[in-house]
Amino acid sequence: MSTSISSATAEAASNIAFIKYWGSSDPERAAPRNSSISMTLSDCRSICSATHYDGESGRDQILLADERGVLDVAPESFSRRIGAHIDRLRTHFERPGTLRIATRNTFPAAAGIASSASGFTALTLAVTRALGVALSPEELSRWSRRSGSGSASRSAFGGYVEWPDSSSDDPDGSRQLLTEDAWSLCDLVAVVETRAKDVSSLEGHRRAASSPYYERRLELLPARLDEVRAALDQRDFERLGRVVEEEAIDMHLIVFSSKPAIFYWKPGTLAVLERVRQLRADGLAAYCTMDAGANVHIICQPADEQSIHDEIARVEGVQKVLRDRVGSAPVWREGAEL
Ligand code: PMV
Repeated sequence: MSTSISSATAEAASNIAFIKYWGSSDPERAAPRNSSISMTLSDCRSICSATHYDGESGRDQILLADERGVLDVAPESFSRRIGAHIDRLRTHFERPGTLRIATRNTFPAAAGIASSASGFTALTLAVTRALGVALSPEELSRWSRRSGSGSASRSAFGGYVEWPDSSSDDPDGSRQLLTEDAWSLCDLVAVVETRAKDVSSLEGHRRAASSPYYERRLELLPARLDEVRAALDQRDFERLGRVVEEEAIDMHLIVFSSKPAIFYWKPGTLAVLERVRQLRADGLAAYCTMDAGANVHIICQPADEQSIHDEIARVEGVQKVLRDRVGSAPVWREGAEL
């Protein structure tokens, strides 16, 4: 362990799950009942600076930038979760010191992109570096996940990443299946809803097992995971796309049939799903996936990206289409940038 430095800035990207983490034996610790596979994104990133700070209160100062980039004191619930994660890291690594934390996302809030995945990964990397702790990517994955954001486990790596379920030998370490250079795929995010969702993913994980179809999903998933691994291995886009779209619909079937039921979809979600089916019938290769929200991620190949973007932007109910693609692992540098 090296000595602490005065400040560190880290950047980490969000990710979109091809096979979703949904349902947990311990949601607060993000212990997944099933393995998941995702693609790390490129432009949808969180930037976090951690700086040693002598606040009179002796408490960490936690700031969050708004969409114009202006920093302000973060809302109480957000600060509590961040503060608990910093305490966990300080206690484990036995490194005291009050910190000023400032975070900015490069993408709009509530756009159906997991800011918790990029946010907690960037936070974990910036804080550990400021405390003088150098984590391996596997350790970064484990510690980011301890924040309670399961998908953060996968943002510690670039490219295509698998996070094994909690019954495996290495219960919380993700691993890279394929580098970002090995296969260039795009993610177009059709934003149909910008309000925050009513039911958090944490609550969704809690309710998942109440669906009568949940155990059946777990039985079917090993074959589906194999299919995604094989499609990645062979760079077979049609094979990947078919299973990714089928998986997203099945995850939402569990969501719809949870007790009480959750409805993340909005009319625009269905309109995009339908349009993408038509585009496929017309010969364009595009497949949909949705996380715990209404917005639709359309996975496609670079050659078709512009045409699909233009078609989706015209669908009724689509407010905007964000363009992203496969991206790389988190990075950090010394100094405060926020
Ligand atoms: O990372 P969490 O705990 O917010 O859960 C993520 C849930 C999904 O985004 C729906 C699926 C996934 O694996 O990313």
